[in-house]
Amino acid sequence: MQNFNSQYLKIFIVIYLLAFLFETEQFKAPLKFIYACFLKPIGNHADQQSRLNSFYKDQAEVYDATRGRLLRGRLTMLKLTADQLRKQIINTSRKPIWVDIGGGTGWNIEKMNDFFPIEQFEKVYLVDLCAPLCKIAESRFHAKGWNNVHVVCDDAASFKLPGIENDIGKIDLVTMSYSLSMIDKFYPVIDRIKSLLSPNGLFGIADFYVSGRVINNDIQVQQGTLNRHCNWFTRWFWQIWFEFDHINLHTSRRDYVEYQFDTIKSFNGRNHFLIPYLVQIPYYVWLGTTKSLASASHVNLNSINTSSLTSLEKLKNSAESKTDNSSVNRSVWRQPYNPTLPRHTQFNTYIYAFTWEDPREDMKVLDLNENDSMFVITSAGDNLLEYALRANPKRIHCVDLNPCQNHLLELKLAGISALNYKDFWSLFGKGKHPQFEHLLDTQLSPYLSSHAYQFWKTHSKTFQNNFFRTGSSGIALRILHLIITIAGLSRDVASLCHASSIKEQKKIYDDKLRPTILHSWLVKIFNNPVFLWKALGVPIRQWKMLLDEGTAHQYLCDTFDGVMAHYKLANDGYFYFLCLMLHYNSESCPSYLTQSGFETLKNGALNSIKIHTNYIVDVLKGLGDGELTKAVVMDHIDWFSESEAEEEIKQLARAVKKGGYVFWRSSARRPWYDKVFVKHGFAVDPICIREPGSGVPLDRVNMYASFYRATKL
Ligand SMILES: C[S@@+](CC[C@H](N)C(=O)[O-])C[C@H]1O[C@@H](n2cnc3c(N)ncnc32)[C@H](O)[C@@H]1O
Ligand SMILES: *[C@@H]1O[C@H](CO)[C@@H](O)[C@H](O)[C@H]1NC(C)=O
Ligand SMILES: *[C@@H]1O[C@H](CO)[C@@H](O)[C@H](O)[C@H]1NC(C)=O
Ligand SMILES: *[C@@H]1O[C@H](CO)[C@@H](O)[C@H](O)[C@H]1NC(C)=O
Ligand SMILES: *[C@@H]1O[C@H](CO)[C@@H](O)[C@H](O)[C@H]1NC(C)=O
Repeated sequence: MQNFNSQYLKIFIVIYLLAFLFETEQFKAPLKFIYACFLKPIGNHADQQSRLNSFYKDQAEVYDATRGRLLRGRLTMLKLTADQLRKQIINTSRKPIWVDIGGGTGWNIEKMNDFFPIEQFEKVYLVDLCAPLCKIAESRFHAKGWNNVHVVCDDAASFKLPGIENDIGKIDLVTMSYSLSMIDKFYPVIDRIKSLLSPNGLFGIADFYVSGRVINNDIQVQQGTLNRHCNWFTRWFWQIWFEFDHINLHTSRRDYVEYQFDTIKSFNGRNHFLIPYLVQIPYYVWLGTTKSLASASHVNLNSINTSSLTSLEKLKNSAESKTDNSSVNRSVWRQPYNPTLPRHTQFNTYIYAFTWEDPREDMKVLDLNENDSMFVITSAGDNLLEYALRANPKRIHCVDLNPCQNHLLELKLAGISALNYKDFWSLFGKGKHPQFEHLLDTQLSPYLSSHAYQFWKTHSKTFQNNFFRTGSSGIALRILHLIITIAGLSRDVASLCHASSIKEQKKIYDDKLRPTILHSWLVKIFNNPVFLWKALGVPIRQWKMLLDEGTAHQYLCDTFDGVMAHYKLANDGYFYFLCLMLHYNSESCPSYLTQSGFETLKNGALNSIKIHTNYIVDVLKGLGDGELTKAVVMDHIDWFSESEAEEEIKQLARAVKKGGYVFWRSSARRPWYDKVFVKHGFAVDPICIREPGSGVPLDRVNMYASFYRATKL
């Protein structure tokens, strides 16, 4: 074992030295660190304290310099806890008390000051067993002049907090960064933390971990599945590697924490320490709270009849009403779902970064008011925000099978709730924000479910280049721009989007763009089913419906000619403005992106939203008879087989109240499933049918051939 040990250590030391030689000012610190970590014999100390003292004695002063890159996730953990803490104490006058266990040199406490000022804590305690590190922490706090910070040099399982008589339930925040894995007897430590925390107390962890495939159906574990699984080599290698330093990565620690607390946020990262790709140490950041009645952690999601997910919702709601004074809002909008099901894991990103139907036409016929209960498809969330903004219906059920579409909606809702207009416009108007990851950790996170947080944390580069170039719709836009560039049309496209009149716009379109865009070779691309599905999200069944009524070329002419002759892109036709410019402008954008729309939504129009991640038909099954008054199902029935359509329409007929409406768009002028609605007790009326060659558009998108309403009889 000893030989094996030193072999690997030597390789590691050489790599480490090489990497650091290039940064001469930091040269000395790593050498000391290497000496203490790898060369100096650890020895067989009888107890943990003397082992720690000896381990850290020579590296105490260089500790912070050497740990910056090794111990990743600490800043994220601090930002998340600060943000959540701020949101929670909003209604209390009491200052919070924080205990940092295994706090070492006090780095966490010093950094926290940037996110949550230390004076705003009643008291802060650093607990650490290692005397040389405690000493450094003490002089650090002394230099800062913080006299509400106390260093307790004691064991994590048994420490007493000076100045607090009975500490049970008195602590608002406990953090542990890279110390849980170092503590041998961790069960009593976690139990002690549980007893210390106040009813809404927070517990934050950043640490290394390893994990096999997630087969646990516990809802708590499911809160943190994205990237959690480590391959066998990673698991085996790092567990053994860290054991040399008495650091234990076994899953039992994290499992027990997740069992004892409610997860608020969970993130699994890989630390590419010094050498990207070769070295990938798994680490996690976790934020949790005292288990409440609202916790459904004992519920096994797989054993729930998916069609009665609302029973879980009821259970959650009834528990929530019991703890009404609780100020922790776990996920306000998102309903629980099981992310490990294949139906969800088939998607690793969103298809639509923007919604491709015109809500202005919907509003003309929806007849919405505050008493309505709606059922809509999430898509990119743009249209349901329009409904909320214009009419504030009492309930909007948003459904998507693709969890990423719902993550995107959650991000928009969190952005409206937490951000100022300028930042929100940067994100979703311009599609760019250089500080997105910082906003995510310091402002947006309390409003996001753990799932959505993990997704955006792992996709934090989305807003660096351009959000609208991401997702599958982003692929279509990139191809479009490639064609525009190759055809040398960039300048014409810009003048088209800034034309001062429809006449001018139409002229540019007719003279410059139409001959290329509607050229037959391009139409051929559109006839490729793989392209249609991957880039445009148009399944083959839908394309067939369209071809049954005419040619692809005619269809595309009808689409573009109608739009260009009727809607000025610069201040109205925001759909095509976006596709061509890859951003919105202040006049050509969805209403929720205008300052007044944003303010209206911020002031309470979002409470009606519930986000479901499941099949449409399964969500419908969970709703009561006649619970809905309006449903907008977009074009998705085009995708269905007859039996699928039949099953879903049957559920719609049950859930929609008498006199209620169902709306859909179709790529066919007369979709075959209209008669299925009639069969199940609806009266079907076309609102608008686009006649080929007429040049009259259906709406500002004009991608569909018809728009229908069914009224429940
Ligand atoms: C890797 S360091 C992390 C220090 C600091 N939290 C940070 O993030 O830089 C682990 C710390 O846990 C402390 N520690 C280990 N076992 C402990 C125990 N049983 N009780 C208290 N502290 C302990 C060690 O002394 C050491 O300071
Ligand atoms: C699930 O619920 C639906 C409707 O409530 C019911 O018809 C079905 O039998 C249930 N399935 C199971 C496995 O309990
Ligand atoms: C909520 O109120 C109940 C009874 O009024 C109380 O027992 C409980 O501790 C309170 N919870 C919180 C989180 O303040
Ligand atoms: C929690 O959410 C409810 C609405 O769902 C809202 O009224 C309340 O203000 C929120 N609490 C906090 C602390 O944000
Ligand atoms: C909504 O319902 C309430 C109570 O039934 C009623 O007073 C109100 O007029 C309704 N609003 C509209 C716009 O129908």
